[in-house]
Amino acid sequence: MKIDIVSVFPEFFDVLRLSLLGKAQDKGLISIAAHDLRDWTHDVHHCVDDTPVGGGAGMVMKPEVWGECLDDLLRADAGRPTLIFPNPSAPLFTQSDATELSGADHLIFGCGRYEGYDARIPEHYRACGIDVREYSIGDYVLNGGEVAAAAMLEAITRLIPGFMGNPESIVEESYTGRNALLEHRQYTKPAQWRGLDVPTILLSGDHGKVDRYRRDEAMRRTDRIRPDLIGRLVCSELDKADLALLGSLGWDLSGEHPTRIE
Ligand code: ADE
Repeated sequence: MKIDIVSVFPEFFDVLRLSLLGKAQDKGLISIAAHDLRDWTHDVHHCVDDTPVGGGAGMVMKPEVWGECLDDLLRADAGRPTLIFPNPSAPLFTQSDATELSGADHLIFGCGRYEGYDARIPEHYRACGIDVREYSIGDYVLNGGEVAAAAMLEAITRLIPGFMGNPESIVEESYTGRNALLEHRQYTKPAQWRGLDVPTILLSGDHGKVDRYRRDEAMRRTDRIRPDLIGRLVCSELDKADLALLGSLGWDLSGEHPTRIE
């Protein structure tokens, strides 16, 4: 996968050389290039922003500079590119977006700063037939798209086959699959630490019991922390023990999805 990132702080992305992302680049699984948007300016001040039309606080990133930059990056494209603009006012980026995008051959992240970018930039490239996505990574506002781009990039690339040392660790994770639950809590040795015990059932060696304990724990945590995820489970895909537990936690399981009994 080829990844281009456009930012006024391209050095921010030096961290992507670390850890598994660095290894994936060394292996040739992905290539990442961070570009300085100011390289596409023509004025002495390398200006990339201007005041908002219609008034208001802050500055908005100019379409002409982005246009020249993205045209160049798209011209160099061999496969089918996907343009991604982090934006706090866009749909939420989810694990299923990460899974879908892990099959892409070329991603281009356009990181806005200030009050954001001129709305005609994504509109123009969409009209050119390019797959353009705008995503928020959460209901909070960051100083720019860089942190959001790095988060999405990590969520996407770790799903590329061959990226993880142990691909099984992806299968059991939170948010994965149709029946996504928060993951159960994890423990390692020693069995007792500062007066706190590892749940004894995890030491029993009985895999069936361990699986059931973890599944119940995952359900209870999800019920408590993210009941919206319980509401998206598909009742016909739950086993008897799942149904009994959710029933005891106050869920009605007679429909397609669980609903909370008032
Ligand atoms: N830019 C600023 N805040 C953001 C957010 N929450 N998600 C994506 N891009 C952003």
